[in-house]
Amino acid sequence: MVESLTAVRVRHWRLTSQTMYRESLRKVATLRGTDTGQALPRRQGRDCNLAAMEIREVAVIGLGTMGAGIAEVFARAGIGVVAMDVDATALSRGIGTLDASLSRAVTRGRLTAAEQAQIRGRVRSATGFSEAAAVDLAVEVVPERMEIKREIFAELDRVCSPDAILATNTSSISVTAIAAASKHPGRVVGMHFFNPAPVMRLVEVVSTVLTTDGVVATVSDLARQIGKTPVHVFDRAGFIANALLLPYLNHALYLMASGYGSREDIDLAATAGIGLPMGPLALLDLIGLDTALSIMEVLHGEFGLPRYNPTPLLRRLSDAGLTGRKAGRGIYDYAEAGSDDHHKGNEHAPAAAPKHVTLIGAGDDVEAELASAMATAGINVTRNAAHPTDLVLIAAEAGRPVLPAALAAGRPEQSVGLKVIGKLAAGRLAEVVQTSLSSAEAIAAGTALATKLGLIPIHAPDRPGFLVGQLLYAHLADAVRMCQDGYSNPIEIDTAMKLGCGYPQGPFELIDAAGAETVLTGLEAMHEAYGYPEFAPPPLLAEHAAAAIPFSAGPRPGR
Ligand code: 3HC
Repeated sequence: MVESLTAVRVRHWRLTSQTMYRESLRKVATLRGTDTGQALPRRQGRDCNLAAMEIREVAVIGLGTMGAGIAEVFARAGIGVVAMDVDATALSRGIGTLDASLSRAVTRGRLTAAEQAQIRGRVRSATGFSEAAAVDLAVEVVPERMEIKREIFAELDRVCSPDAILATNTSSISVTAIAAASKHPGRVVGMHFFNPAPVMRLVEVVSTVLTTDGVVATVSDLARQIGKTPVHVFDRAGFIANALLLPYLNHALYLMASGYGSREDIDLAATAGIGLPMGPLALLDLIGLDTALSIMEVLHGEFGLPRYNPTPLLRRLSDAGLTGRKAGRGIYDYAEAGSDDHHKGNEHAPAAAPKHVTLIGAGDDVEAELASAMATAGINVTRNAAHPTDLVLIAAEAGRPVLPAALAAGRPEQSVGLKVIGKLAAGRLAEVVQTSLSSAEAIAAGTALATKLGLIPIHAPDRPGFLVGQLLYAHLADAVRMCQDGYSNPIEIDTAMKLGCGYPQGPFELIDAAGAETVLTGLEAMHEAYGYPEFAPPPLLAEHAAAAIPFSAGPRPGR
């Protein structure tokens, strides 16, 4: 039988570690002595107190992009790193990633050359497990395959001191299953970093039913020491951040694949519309479509809801090896130097802005703002649909379709909706809402009008939520359900999404800013139109809307 690559790799690690075991133990002991002046007192046996443990040396196993970033984070914080990978080539590639990151920091004036040398001096390359013999913590960052992880934890069990903590950075394998396969399951936890690891400030510290008291506290203290914010979670698929982020990204890809919105418009809806640092499709490319697929499969396996079903295109792109940035191509193409093509923005055909516009609205502030902005831009505005004009503009509102107003105006072909996200001002996102009767000329005119008003136009169909609501409301509902399930709370969820994914506001802050009632109404309209369970408003949201209680007010008495 042909030996699998995994088996070969693991055997290679094991052999190397066996032959180097004694020699490296001696070297490590010497190194620790010279580094710190004294060896750490070691606790032995099953009753050791892991809470009081000081972490001075860490092994990072697997120096891919994440592993190299994690090694950099530890070394920058003054912690010795034993950097390990499966062979010399992989190891030197990983060290190259780390070196490039440090050099970039020097070029940008964030580090001096002397600091760079100091940091680099804390990182020691190793290709054998035996060199991890004296570490206080080992963090595994290898590909998401249970058989590889099992073997690695078996090796760590063998070489590491029994009171060393063993952590996994897994995002899609049960930490409990990894722990259960270890000889000392009580010391196995998740230490989940976010990409790019040197930048994102969250670490999810994941405990299991088997975790020994004190391990979480030690790992959380360490996370603080390296400049991160720990959020403690119990082992559950996706923890907090991935369980919320990935279904939203998957849904965004579905919207693109189904033609609901263009790639550029979907990403702009998230960045310019919601204020997120990256659009969902660009973020999928950063995370890796294969990684995203694994996480979706695990979420689907655990929760079983249609929301967690991977969009077929995610699987196809992943199968094709188009896994995103790391492959040079995913949803976007990164192959040509500098062709980071998502910076092109949307590509709506330019058209002349209309000079005469019929404005139809609900007689509210939204309509008044639009009328005043158009007048300021020198556009003639009438409210009379019988007047011949270049365009009928319907001031669109969430939960109110555009088509009935377009039909009532008697010129549906010449009509589009316009929904400005937030208060109308230059630089805001505007959804140009097209009904099934809107002509190409009307869509182009509506787009040109939005541009003339200084807005950033994207196109959305006349369906509940338009495009921003489609992306956002189900995502917010997921956050509320996570809280309703008792898995986490609004403060921790907001912290996780802000520090792990760069959100300027967490999901609950977004709900409070928009008003629970607005989000509820949006979800109700989407649920009524589609019937999908993911759009069903969670009762907890309805309660907050009915009682007008912001989530920032904290739990109610008796909860
Ligand atoms: N490695 C190291 N540093 C990086 C980096 C990288 N890959 N990318 C950016 N940086 C640094 C830059 O050097 C810069 O630092 P400086 O100010 O000291 O020079 C800083 O980050 C800002 O970078 P840029 O100005 O180039 O770019 P942006 O301002 O656009 O920020 C971003 C880039 C930090 C990636 C930002 O877009 C962001 O926060 N995006 C969201 C990322 C996210 O959601 N990550 C989580 C993904 S989920 C995950 O990882 C979990 C896993 O299990 C799937």
